[in-house]
Amino acid sequence: MKYGYFDDINREYVITNPRTPWPWINYLGTNDFFSLISNTAGGYAFYRDAKFRRIMRYRYNGVPMDAGGRYFYIKDGDTIWNPGWKPCKTELDAYECRHGMNYTQIKGDKNGISATTLFFVPLGINAEVTKLTLTNNGNQPKSIKLFSFIEWCLWNASTDMENFQRNFSTGEVEIHGSTLYHKTEYRERRDHYAFYHVNAPIQGFDTDREAFLGIYNGFDTPQVVEAGKPSNSVAHGWSPIASHYLEITLQPGETRHLVFVMGYVENAQEEKWESKGVVNKTKALEIINALDTTEKVDEKFAELKRYWDNLLNKFTLSGTDERLARMANIWNQYQCMVTFCFSRSASFFESGIGRGMGFRDSNQDLVGFVHQIPERARARIIDIASTQFPDGGCYHQYQPLTKRGNNDIGGGFNDDPLWLIFGTVAYIKETGDTSILSEQVPFDNQPGSEVSLMEHLKVSFDHVIYNLGPHGLPLIGRADWNDCLNLNCFSNDPNESFQTTENKTEGSKAESLMIAGQFVVCGTQYAELCDYLGDHDEADRARSCVKEMEEAIKKYGWDGDWYLRAYDYYGRPVGSHTNEESKIFIESQGWCTMAGVGKDEGMVQKSLESVKKYLDTPNGIVLNYPAYSKYIIDYGEISSYPEGYKENGGIFAHNNPWVIIGETVAGNGDRAWEYFSKICPAYTEEHSELHKVEPYVYCQMIAGKESAKPGEAKNSWLTGTAAWNWYAITQFILGIKPGYTGLEISPCIPKEWPGFTVNRHFRGADFEIKVENPHHVSTGVKSITLNGEKLTGNVIPTQPAGSKSTVIVEME
Ligand code: BGC
Ligand code: NOJ
Repeated sequence: MKYGYFDDINREYVITNPRTPWPWINYLGTNDFFSLISNTAGGYAFYRDAKFRRIMRYRYNGVPMDAGGRYFYIKDGDTIWNPGWKPCKTELDAYECRHGMNYTQIKGDKNGISATTLFFVPLGINAEVTKLTLTNNGNQPKSIKLFSFIEWCLWNASTDMENFQRNFSTGEVEIHGSTLYHKTEYRERRDHYAFYHVNAPIQGFDTDREAFLGIYNGFDTPQVVEAGKPSNSVAHGWSPIASHYLEITLQPGETRHLVFVMGYVENAQEEKWESKGVVNKTKALEIINALDTTEKVDEKFAELKRYWDNLLNKFTLSGTDERLARMANIWNQYQCMVTFCFSRSASFFESGIGRGMGFRDSNQDLVGFVHQIPERARARIIDIASTQFPDGGCYHQYQPLTKRGNNDIGGGFNDDPLWLIFGTVAYIKETGDTSILSEQVPFDNQPGSEVSLMEHLKVSFDHVIYNLGPHGLPLIGRADWNDCLNLNCFSNDPNESFQTTENKTEGSKAESLMIAGQFVVCGTQYAELCDYLGDHDEADRARSCVKEMEEAIKKYGWDGDWYLRAYDYYGRPVGSHTNEESKIFIESQGWCTMAGVGKDEGMVQKSLESVKKYLDTPNGIVLNYPAYSKYIIDYGEISSYPEGYKENGGIFAHNNPWVIIGETVAGNGDRAWEYFSKICPAYTEEHSELHKVEPYVYCQMIAGKESAKPGEAKNSWLTGTAAWNWYAITQFILGIKPGYTGLEISPCIPKEWPGFTVNRHFRGADFEIKVENPHHVSTGVKSITLNGEKLTGNVIPTQPAGSKSTVIVEME
């Protein structure tokens, strides 16, 4: 069953039934001011940091689901309704939600009135705007009462939930005309406030939640709306809100626009006040003035559209299935930008409070957006590298506001350093900008500790070789990519987090075959980079370490039909046919096949066959099989999940592209495509009621074959799945790989494809690349012509900025 449809021309997903199986959300904002918005206008806004600068209060995991948002109540006679259906849930005559590129438009019709709410964050302005359009479609004049509503969070989203003995006494507001200001804690250390404004005179307001709702009412039955009369409440403590009241009469056929602006302002200490206790509103008024007419708002909206046209014009695919095209051209790229902005912090599965920016996560996300915003990718790399330790180890996370490493979780995840190589190489290959390697970057943000970024890459590489275990394989530390395979943890206290509890690494023999494979991939990337820079000695040193790793994998990491996953604390194999459960894991199959370890000996092909046999399912490839059926203290969190969920036998969509890329290494285009289309969201749209989460973005996890409900997905949006699938489809299936000197072309496609066309912007030049597959093969490039000239080899050399080239690729 479907709940809507894709509108590819407008780059929107159109939801036609508000009762989606889970709130289907979108993200607003591109730079500093961000919002989450569901298809019923639920969600919240924040400035930069979802924990420390939360603007709207939100109750996660509440009952009913997704309560709280930017609501508009329309009282038309005795009928009270909302354009987004919720919270009143009054049956609408028509409903439509269009989630587009950083905007959402929700339209509801009731009793002859149509109300359209367009939500977006204008470029360069710290505010969420709602353009509300009301139309009287009937033939009688209509008088309605309109109440806006948002609830303020008292800034720190964590203490806002916990410390209400204090917070119930701190709330403060100011009311000036049609602007309702929220200034809690501004009297002390804060230098910021928020406001909610409408560009029309109001006939009343409320700023106190209890006065607006009534203490025993929910959002669906606010007492002032029911009474049809605001109470003009002024919040002193308790829970401040902002609600405007407007009386509106519309003649038959008349349309009226209103602009609501929820803004955020920071003032320097000496400029905080206008007079004693009265906030300085200069900056707020600037925002208000910039958006005080429908025309100005329309222009800002058009500007946002142009911004996205520009971002999405850098890569477009045509000539394939429309579902693939809409993912590649629109949604996958869009999701990658969302992961850039939010990492893993704020979604309808992540509270925005618990996690900062992941070291590995942010590096991986880079491959998904570096072609769109290279300058911001550059800055991100420097931020990430600045949280590394001098020995190459890394803080596992850092806080976006302070950019400091997060001490609560610390370091010791031994895959982390390699991701810095992965991310930096992706940046240089896309941009050609090797100057980033000379940037002076500190360790652990300590002034005076700066070394070049290249040196950071070296210590990343060395961190692996200085931390090898008894088999010459990388020691795993707290965990590798799989945060839940905690081989050094041994926790029997349910009050401990598997990620933060003290790990017993001393004397540990726990080694990771995932990091081993990753080292072959990223170590080779490091060696190639050194060669490209002319440092052949370092390249040779790196290559010989990589070679040794390959030998160690072949000798100690091969189980007979697949690669082992790890050795545990005591040196016993994990992910082996000799284990009782979880005999095979995906991560090492993915990385070692991507790396091509033992290809000549048939290992790659055998491993891939084993994946097909034991891990593949109709909904994607599961992480491990058979899943653990009981908690095993030696393995940690992985065995804490019931079978088929998350890291224990779930389809962890993030690692499926590793196998997809592995299949392309083996030349199996049909198989790569089969796996890709199984987890690609647009292909799940038909069974949305089972899939549950949005059909336009990747999710982290789909319940596996041993679960109670195979195919049911969770954790949509903020996942490395977005970047990895982008990487897999563009660079390995379509086979257009940015390299140091140009674009390498090596497609690995399903045989039935007749070809495809990609328009690619690369280092300032435009390429139209037409791939023709007349003989229906998967791999093999017979010839490439660049502007009519035949090339030798399969690399299209970099072209002058501003030039346009046509490339014809003929497959064998
Ligand atoms: C989840 C992981 C996550 C980790 C750290 C675990 O419970 O299963 O996916 O990476 O927590 O937050
Ligand atoms: C989610 C985390 O964000 C990511 O870093 C990790 O690799 C996966 N979970 C797998 O555990």
